[in-house]
Amino acid sequence: PPLDECLNLHDFEAVAKATLPDKAWAYYSSAADDEITHRDNRAAFQRIWFRPRILRDVTRVDWSTMILGHKSSMPVYITATALGKLGHPDGELNLTRAAGKHGVIQMIPTLASCSFDEIIDAGVQDQVFFMQLYVNKDRAKTKKIVQHAEKRGVKALFITVDAPQLGRREKDMRMKFEDVGAAVQAKSDDKVDRNQGAARAISSFIDPGLSWNDIPWFRSITKMPIILKGVQCWEDAVLAAEAGCDGIVLSNHGGRQLDTTRSGIEILPEVVDELRKRGLFPNPKFSIFVDGGVRRATDVLKAVALGATAVGVGRAFIYAFSAYGQEGVEKAVNILNDEFEMNMRLIGARNISEVVPSLVDTSSLSLH
Ligand code: FNR
Repeated sequence: PPLDECLNLHDFEAVAKATLPDKAWAYYSSAADDEITHRDNRAAFQRIWFRPRILRDVTRVDWSTMILGHKSSMPVYITATALGKLGHPDGELNLTRAAGKHGVIQMIPTLASCSFDEIIDAGVQDQVFFMQLYVNKDRAKTKKIVQHAEKRGVKALFITVDAPQLGRREKDMRMKFEDVGAAVQAKSDDKVDRNQGAARAISSFIDPGLSWNDIPWFRSITKMPIILKGVQCWEDAVLAAEAGCDGIVLSNHGGRQLDTTRSGIEILPEVVDELRKRGLFPNPKFSIFVDGGVRRATDVLKAVALGATAVGVGRAFIYAFSAYGQEGVEKAVNILNDEFEMNMRLIGARNISEVVPSLVDTSSLSLH
């Protein structure tokens, strides 16, 4: 179908499902075990209801915001998803070019199909990038990647902490992995089993020994803000703040790791409450992000109302570029912008600082 028939982010998923090769669809769409968490990432947003306000002169509404000190056209960033070339020959560059044009921040994955430098070089002047890090057992390699990223101007380091071992994504495991000229970081390991899908084939270098004791080492090798991606309870949120991290992403990795874990949006209220009790929230030096299941501006506004600085979007953007390349991603961003304008007006918020907790009713959020 022509691109202008896509009216919402779900439509890109339908086109991607119909047009992508089986292997790509299996890798992108799959989630762990019975995919219960994956489904609940969507469902959890539907358990939050708005309490919109009226008569607030919403002629002008502005949903731009600051993320870790950098301007963003919306409280959304493109989160890290590996293997962009499975879906489109230009891979991650589709995201980079669209992001540069529309003032959106892209998080570059360790396991990108395009090389790190290719992605940075495709950016426009002053384009803001974050970097997602899988920590290698060989710390010298990790140090090199981190310091190179900082040198190339990357603004923040998101260390993935929910993947000491890759989850079982059975749809993907049924496929035999073929190299797509991809995942440069993973090439060091020749002993990988290529008969159990893409995820397994590219992840054997990740260190399950990573621990809180490593945080000071990361601090010593980089000045970039350090954010832990994949926090799933308030206890670890508090530890992250106390360890001097600059933020956390409440995330279950798009349902691809531990199945029957709660969604990021569901965890957010308890994290905010417990941080607040300890005087750690609100705190400009400690940001809370959420990802998982975001498809609508209303999802984003719910997370922001509950205390998130911004949310990450993964699959929706992958499906957009898989189906339509860079243009698809631009269209997805435009759809979100239209949705933000309308929904900011309808909830009665003129800017992001007016998107406050009293705009949402969370009384059904943890009732499943
Ligand atoms: C991911 N995600 C991910 N996370 C990460 O830290 N490193 C990675 O390499 C990847 N790769 C990856 C590939 C694919 C195909 C998907 C779908 C996801 C997880 C990602 O950053 C994010 O947490 C989720 O994708 C968010 O959920 P949605 O937006 O996909 O529902």
